[in-house]
Amino acid sequence: MPATVVIGGQWGDEGKGRIVDLLARDASVIARYSAGNNAGHTIINHLGLFALHIVPAGIFYPDKTCIVGNGVAVDPQVLLEEIDTLEGRGVSTERLLISDRAHVVMPYHPIIDQLDEKLRGAAAVGTTGRGIGPCFADKVARLGIRMGDLADPRSFHERLSFVLPYKNSVLSRLYGAEPLSFEDVYSTYCEYARRLAPRVCDTSIVAREALSRGENILLEGAQGALLDLDAGTYDYVTSSVPSSTAAGAAIGLGIGPADITKIVGVYKAYMTRVGNGPMPTELQDEDGQILRLQGPRPEIGTTTGRPRRTGWFDAVASRYSAQVNSVSAVALTRLDVLDPFPSIQVCVSYKIDGAEVHSPPASISAYERAEPQYEELPGWREDSTRARRFDDLPKNAQRYVQRIGELIGRPIEIVSVGPEREQVIRMDRPV
Ligand code: GDP
Ligand code: IMO
Ligand code: MG
Repeated sequence: MPATVVIGGQWGDEGKGRIVDLLARDASVIARYSAGNNAGHTIINHLGLFALHIVPAGIFYPDKTCIVGNGVAVDPQVLLEEIDTLEGRGVSTERLLISDRAHVVMPYHPIIDQLDEKLRGAAAVGTTGRGIGPCFADKVARLGIRMGDLADPRSFHERLSFVLPYKNSVLSRLYGAEPLSFEDVYSTYCEYARRLAPRVCDTSIVAREALSRGENILLEGAQGALLDLDAGTYDYVTSSVPSSTAAGAAIGLGIGPADITKIVGVYKAYMTRVGNGPMPTELQDEDGQILRLQGPRPEIGTTTGRPRRTGWFDAVASRYSAQVNSVSAVALTRLDVLDPFPSIQVCVSYKIDGAEVHSPPASISAYERAEPQYEELPGWREDSTRARRFDDLPKNAQRYVQRIGELIGRPIEIVSVGPEREQVIRMDRPV
């Protein structure tokens, strides 16, 4: 199985980091291919709890190569802090490589991100404020600065001499903000570049060489399909180019789409969302609060610390994301969070203006009006966190997993019943 992609099937935070940590055992290269430090991936292992924002979750295996691919927006300050934290906690980052084509998050990007949210007023997206949208907007506008530019002080000077005055005039004329000093930006980023230089290379060659040796590559998605610019709830989406969906994975690492042979969709056993935008099954009541607070890892954003919005499993949105990503296997996470419920609702269709709808509408206002149509399933009210085989799960939990598999329309191969590495069921017979 040369290249496997792990994507989020919902609005992010499905537990991709935790699943990549598991699947990385069978790969020699683990790569991020999209987004930036708007992502926050939690991994709990023998060394403790880690929240990674840019570094791939394969970093805990010393014999594997980790790649920050050309599709990633790299904030060098955040990356260096992440490397220092990992090294300080005994995790070697020696085999971490960064693509010379990856775009750099510059100091004006977070400023523009936050000022832009203010300008949008009531239509604010609720971004993470990390400058990722503006960085990708510059990539598309051909105003970006790439890791390869940084590595060469002369070409960086030339590039910044064109881009910074442009950005300063946007900052001052459009937003009424203070311009940034060329000397400060140049010297700070030259220092970042000096520290990162030994890791910067054409990582697509590394990936393609691994493939030609018959080794496995694992591509770690960020966000979720419902936050994608095209597939998601536009304009309450994230701005990553390439897309965080499976279709973006090959582009974001510099391999061919035919190298990808497996796509694992990670889904929570219910829904969460951070930021604004439609979420038909959102619960504002006590059940929503239980979903948010139950278990060892409450639903608090890994990157921003914002409480996540919570709701019942939405099979309409989840089936759609499985289809547009060609998901070949499902990893269902956080099943244990449903342990206390006497009964559980699953949304099987929407009603919009009186009509039954089975696929997400393009129009945000129509999506805001979608009324979830529920199927009720019995709960189990037993501890599921010690199950290691499917048969160990309470019977009603088994039924729930089977029904979710049917509704998504793809086989469930992994069920996660807790955040720890070993709290997982690898299915002999996927359901
Ligand atoms: P990611 O962005 O998709 O990697 O997900 P996050 O790390 O942002 O959020 C997932 C959260 O759920 C983290 O706090 C994980 O530690 C936690 N987690 C993952 N799998 C499970 C599980 O099966 N049960 C519970 N209770 N927590 C889990
Ligand atoms: P992981 O990889 C959850 C959301 C933000 C906001 C929208 C746009 O951890 O699953 P942005 O800063 O990207 O411009 O914000 O997208 N968002 C995420 N939500 N998990 C993520 O990543 C997210 N990355 C972005 O909350 O609604
Ligand atoms: Mg996350």
